[in-house]
Amino acid sequence: MSHAMNGSRPGAASAKGEIHAHVTGWGRYVPSQILSNKDLERMVDTNDEWIVTRTGIRERRVAAAHETTASMAAVAGLRAIHTAGIDPDEIDLILLATLTPDYWMPSTAALVKEAIGNTRAAAMDVAAACSGFVYGFATAQAWIKAGLAKHVLVIGAELLTRFLDYSDRSTCILFGDGAGAAVLSASTEPGGGLGVELTTEPQGAYMIWLPAGGAKSPPSAETIARGEHFIRMEGKETYRFATRTLASTALESVRKSGLEPDDIRLFIPHQANIRIIEAVAKGLNLSMDRMYTNVDKYGNTSAASVPIAMAEAVNEGRIDVGDRITIVAFGAGFTSGAVTIEWTADPARGRDADTAIRPEDVHVRLPVDWDSVDPIPPALAELMARPGPVNPPLDDVVPGEPEPASQPLSR
Ligand code: ACO
Repeated sequence: MSHAMNGSRPGAASAKGEIHAHVTGWGRYVPSQILSNKDLERMVDTNDEWIVTRTGIRERRVAAAHETTASMAAVAGLRAIHTAGIDPDEIDLILLATLTPDYWMPSTAALVKEAIGNTRAAAMDVAAACSGFVYGFATAQAWIKAGLAKHVLVIGAELLTRFLDYSDRSTCILFGDGAGAAVLSASTEPGGGLGVELTTEPQGAYMIWLPAGGAKSPPSAETIARGEHFIRMEGKETYRFATRTLASTALESVRKSGLEPDDIRLFIPHQANIRIIEAVAKGLNLSMDRMYTNVDKYGNTSAASVPIAMAEAVNEGRIDVGDRITIVAFGAGFTSGAVTIEWTADPARGRDADTAIRPEDVHVRLPVDWDSVDPIPPALAELMARPGPVNPPLDDVVPGEPEPASQPLSR
């Protein structure tokens, strides 16, 4: 089933009064704690060579105990707002894509609204798993084009390391934590978001899922004993779906933009597995230098992966004014989505966002006297607590950007 919206042709004169949704801000935040493949060798029967060859992942980030999906989202969101050069209160709508919300209710978007100092925006979460940011981006674009919002903040944020079974080597090696964000702004100038392609194939619904905790299976001692609060995945079927759908979804978005793959400077695919990204390049008959990758550094950060990659690609000089790029993702559901974008913002605008917005200055409010249990899974906490020169307890890690001196735990 395909639900699609068409953008106007790039470069074409805008119909009088037509509104376009431009990317004006971008930002990302990743926790400083690194979990390397070598660290995982100490937890499950795996090895660095297997992980690198099969997935391309070398390390991933782990949020510290005081960090949450909302806190990471707020930092990334404020960085995107800083890049856009607007006040947080100018945001009309906050869309937060995540499969690891802080709570069932309220929405994580509501917590982020308060944390960034916004008083006026509508705020809601988007549940489309790893495709969530692309779904959110397409929704933001539609709101702007319909004249419902001038500035929309779209965030992808995930704290997956708290939902992994660290005795299941087929999943625990794949995922990491982080957040990325973009500001979309209305303008009558042509450019910005173009063709959109979104799909959902529910026959794959149970290929990646988290069985317990919802209305079908509320949390209980029994569901916990059965490990049903952890992510489960049929890797091979998911892999097949991903390789089949990513290239075709990206191609649909490009064609709906009146373009061909050769017109796209850079594809920014969901960072799940380097082999899947290579298959997309092959499917589109393009070389790997047209695919942005950072899966080696962060693993699969689900809804955060595309906006983290987009922010890094711009800041690294891989995207310029006038370039067309395509963001594309797949995920549980099975969902997939792609949006082609004509880039119009000065890439230099994002360079000082990381120093301007410091994580220690951003706070997500908790209820008075609320004292939650330690959120770090015991197996992970145990690894972090083992004696040795290279494994500081997670709580001791100062939140913030990775310093050059930041070392993997195993060194
Ligand atoms: N270390 C060592 N060996 C392992 C590991 C590990 N971490 N995991 C599995 N193996 C073993 C298996 O047991 C199997 O052994 P056997 O042959 O003796 O039975 C062997 O390695 C091969 O296992 P496969 O599952 O066939 O490995 P595959 O090449 O398919 O790679 C992987 C597995 C990486 C999970 C791959 O299938 C994949 O990337 N799938 C897609 C996952 C994905 O993208 N998920 C994102 C979901 S998006 C969302 O919404 C959350």
